[in-house]
Amino acid sequence: MAKTMKYWYGSFLLSSIAINILFTIYLYVGGGRGGGGLSWSEKAAAEAEAVAAISCSGHGRVYVDSSVDSEGRLVCECYDCYTGIDCSQISPTCPANADSGDPIFLEPFWMQHATNSAILISGWHRMSYRYDDNPFMSTQLENYIRKMHSIVGNAITEGRYIVFGIGSSQLLSAAVYALSSQNSSSLPSNVLASVPFYPMYKTQTVFFNSENFQFEGDTNAWQSNNSTNNLDVVEFVTSPNNPDGELKKSVLGGKTIYDHAYYWPHFTPIPAPSDHDLMVFTLSKLTGHAGVRFGLTSIFSKSTRFSIQKRHPLHCNFFNETRLPSPAYAWVKCEREEEEDCTAVLLDAGNIIGRPGSWFGAKDRYVRLSLIKSQDDFELLMQRLTELVSLENGTIDTIGSGGGGGGGECALSWSEKAASEAEAVAAISCSGHGRAYLDGSIDSEGRPICECYACYTGIDCSQMSSSCAADANSGDPIFLEPFWMQHAANSAVLIPGWHRMGYRYGDL
Ligand SMILES: Cc1ncc(COP(=O)(O)O)c(C=O)c1O
Repeated sequence: MAKTMKYWYGSFLLSSIAINILFTIYLYVGGGRGGGGLSWSEKAAAEAEAVAAISCSGHGRVYVDSSVDSEGRLVCECYDCYTGIDCSQISPTCPANADSGDPIFLEPFWMQHATNSAILISGWHRMSYRYDDNPFMSTQLENYIRKMHSIVGNAITEGRYIVFGIGSSQLLSAAVYALSSQNSSSLPSNVLASVPFYPMYKTQTVFFNSENFQFEGDTNAWQSNNSTNNLDVVEFVTSPNNPDGELKKSVLGGKTIYDHAYYWPHFTPIPAPSDHDLMVFTLSKLTGHAGVRFGLTSIFSKSTRFSIQKRHPLHCNFFNETRLPSPAYAWVKCEREEEEDCTAVLLDAGNIIGRPGSWFGAKDRYVRLSLIKSQDDFELLMQRLTELVSLENGTIDTIGSGGGGGGGECALSWSEKAASEAEAVAAISCSGHGRAYLDGSIDSEGRPICECYACYTGIDCSQMSSSCAADANSGDPIFLEPFWMQHAANSAVLIPGWHRMGYRYGDL
């Protein structure tokens, strides 16, 4: 059962990844198809627009899968510091929470592109374990990923395998397993990362507690105490680095996992495509533009108490100009000798929650502040930091607030394109012996093509191979397809482009 659920979630996730990537490509390079009259998809489209129109005062969001109140009405999920049924009440003493790396800052971008980023999933979407003739993984998704890297110019994918995971955290852990010593008689592989490093490397390596590997901390410290000649090492290289945004390079030059979570042009200039044996990317931090976020530098430039990491301009091949990075995090240092716990200083003096330096293998004189949460979080953080820094000079000035989100409202507007696309794909005749999907294979003119059931071939799956063996092997639950088709109007769901951008659900 657990395995089946895993495949369900896996294939739903892969479909949604494929669709997200497809739309990202649409948005970067243009494209898209028109719509037509709606029938079964209209209900889902109207529902999605009604949900999107629920006012959370611009300080929260409702999703089609949000919690409901005792009367079955969807409940607003408020951003930090806001409460109330419509998130309209701000708690003035609430700390500016700059702890987690939730990429909510991308929400307004997807709302602006509501029409092109919505997707309507029919009730019978991909009921098989497999994609077309291929095992488990979508070649269409693989093609989109390769195309996206080639458009952005951030990775060489030719001649390389692409492996999908449920988030990159899973793949980072799998990579440690794959690269570490397999021989039970040999010493465990040493897993290393340069300080300051993303804490999950340590957490996962320690958590999985294998006799094949052990976390040994800072690469540079380890190198000065050990010879690499006869010791087995697996090195994490995070580029750009979390927390300080540096484009890191390998120290040891051996077995290396390149974590490129932030190697996208909205976080850093892309000087050259990454070209390594093992590169890990994630959608989590990809889909948006963070260009405006580094107003922080000017606040800290007035301070002698706090400093922030330096940013180095680099030529970016994607934008074809020299640019400063817009890192996802500020890596702040407390400069006063007595202020050794910078997280506590920011909390006590500034009412700001950050993540302590020691989580990243560095001193607690450092603290990481997340800049990629919602506009509300960012504005509160800027306000609190401005006040804190102003206190040094005996004056208090507050900064004005910037523009807010925006959103899709009113009856059937932005959702119509997704709804009519879904109906157009569903209407493609595969002679009842196959199915075309929105995220399925396409012909040379970009039209979705039929994925035929076993024993059927041809452009519309009309040709049956008489010698074909009756395949009663897999447990593919396709028998349920007609049921979902009968209930098309009630089983479709329209997912807007800004659906659940945070790592967490509601308050959890
Ligand atoms: C450097 C780095 N790698 C990986 C991840 C995990 O990403 P995912 O959401 O894909 O698991 C993060 C998330 O914050 C990160 O900062």
